[in-house]
Amino acid sequence: MTSRRHIRQSIRHTRNSLTPQEQHQAATDLVLQCANDPYIQKAKSVAIYLSVDGEINTSLLIDWLWQQGKSVTLPVIHPFSKGHLLFLEYTKDTPLILNKYQILEPKLDKTQVVPVNQLDVIITPLVAFDHLGNRLGMGGGYYDRTLVNWEQNQTGPMPIGIAHACQQVDALPIESWDVPLPRIITPTQIWHW
Ligand SMILES: Nc1ncnc2c1ncn2[C@@H]1O[C@H](COP(=O)(O)OP(=O)(O)OP(=O)(O)O)[C@@H](O)[C@H]1O
Ligand SMILES: [Mg+2]
Repeated sequence: MTSRRHIRQSIRHTRNSLTPQEQHQAATDLVLQCANDPYIQKAKSVAIYLSVDGEINTSLLIDWLWQQGKSVTLPVIHPFSKGHLLFLEYTKDTPLILNKYQILEPKLDKTQVVPVNQLDVIITPLVAFDHLGNRLGMGGGYYDRTLVNWEQNQTGPMPIGIAHACQQVDALPIESWDVPLPRIITPTQIWHW
């Protein structure tokens, strides 16, 4: 089976090759799919992320979440606990800084931290997914750690992956620590397992 490194390389190339028009259509259609998703509809507090590297653009979805009056949070790399994330409230006024991966994140402010168990949905980035909901991320293990509690007890915020349709592969080489996703939304479909 193809290695994780090769799949990451290949799918990152594929999604970075989408045209601006294809990216815009995908982002628009994703909002429509998410607006129809019962978990997102009923969520009061949603964790999401700012797109990089050809990922489906989340800015329209974030605007829609704000319009719906939902609390929106973004991941921040934990300052001491290696490999872990914090989630901070995100509003139009939140100051953002580049982290060590050159990804924008809210400037750390303890008053803005939302504990994971107070989130209803964690919209999860991914590089590739397969027909069983297995997930390959960028390789930091951040979301695998965040979702450990979900995997063990099926409690806590509902993880929902979002991706371009072209990020689906037949099968992924999975490691013991990888947490599969119960739900993945693409611009054309809602997958659930
Ligand atoms: N629950 C965990 N506890 C300890 N280490 C973990 C855990 N989950 C993942 N890791 C470690 O993180 C590293 C990267 O994991 P992996 O390749 O699965 O990342 P990923 O799922 O692609 O990344 P991400 O979740 O950040 O998108 C691995 O070396 C793995 O040992
Ligand atoms: Mg993983």
